[in-house]
Amino acid sequence: MSPRYAIFGNPVAHSRSPEIHAAFSAQTGIPLVYERRLAPESGFSAAVAAFRAEGGRGGNVTLPFKVEAYALASHRTPRATQAGAVNTLRFADGAIEGDNTDGAGLVADLKKNLGVALAGARILIVGAGGAARGVVGPLLAEHPGSVTIVNRTPARAEEIAAVFAAANVGAVALADLPGREFDLVINATAASLNGELPPVPRGAFASQSLAYEMMYGKGETPFLALARQEGARRADGLGMLVEQAAEAFLVWHGVRPDTAPVLEQLRLTVPAP
Ligand code: ATR
Repeated sequence: MSPRYAIFGNPVAHSRSPEIHAAFSAQTGIPLVYERRLAPESGFSAAVAAFRAEGGRGGNVTLPFKVEAYALASHRTPRATQAGAVNTLRFADGAIEGDNTDGAGLVADLKKNLGVALAGARILIVGAGGAARGVVGPLLAEHPGSVTIVNRTPARAEEIAAVFAAANVGAVALADLPGREFDLVINATAASLNGELPPVPRGAFASQSLAYEMMYGKGETPFLALARQEGARRADGLGMLVEQAAEAFLVWHGVRPDTAPVLEQLRLTVPAP
C-alpha cells in the first residue's frame, strides 16, 4: 500500500495540499496517498495519534494547530525551533519530528518565481503572529540589508525582534515608519481575512518594490490595493503554498519536485491579484 500523509487543520476542506502532493507524486513517480483530516479544536493530538496508528507516515499542519504541533513533536528541526511553530510532521521510529517549511517556501517563491534579490534588500514584515515569526529566520539567511517588523500591537513585534537579536532586525512603531522605504513589504497579518488594511503607511514602497500578500484567493485585498496605488509590484501567497509543499515533499521523500508546472496548474483556479 502507498505511504499515507495528511493535512491536519480546522477548517481543512479548502486545503489545496492534497492536489499539490498528488501532482508531485505523479511528477516524481513516488507513490503516496495524501488526505485531509479535520481535527476538532481540542482534538489535534488525538487526530495525529489516530493517523499514526493507521500507519500514516507524516503530515502537514495548518491553522489553528501549528503551535500545538510544535509542542507535540518529540524533536524539532532548528528552523522549526526558530519559528516556534511546526507545519510538517514526520513519523519515524516511534518519534514525531517537527519541521517548518513555511519560511523556506516563501524564500523559494521570492527568489525563484518572483526574481527578487534578497541580499541587501530592505524588508518590512507587517504582522507579528506565527506567520511572521516563521519567515524571519529564512529571510535573514539570505543576508537582507534589514528586516523591520511592524504590528498593530507593537509589543509583539518587539518580542520577535528580540528572538532573533540580529543587528539588521528591528521592530518599529507605525508612527515611525513614514519616511522609510522598503524593497519588499510582506503582509503576514490576518487583516485581509476581514477586508482590512494592515499597518502600512503610504510611501513605504520604494521604486521597483514588491508587495507580498501571504494569503491567496482573496482577490485584491486592501493591502494589494494600496500597493497598486503606490506603483509597487504585487504577489499573493500561492507560490509560497506550493513551495512550502515542495519542501515538505523533500523532507518526506528526499526529492524536491519541480514546482513550476504545479503552480501554473493551481493558478488556473486562483486568479493572480
Ligand atoms: P498567525 O499565526 O496567522 O500569524 P496570529 O498569531 O493570530 O496568527 O497573528 C495574526 C497577526 O495579524 C497579528 O500580527 C495581528 O495583530 P495583533 O498582534 O495586533 O493582534 C494581525 N492582525 C489580525 N487582524 C488584523 C487587523 N484587522 N489589522 C491589523 N493587524 C491584524
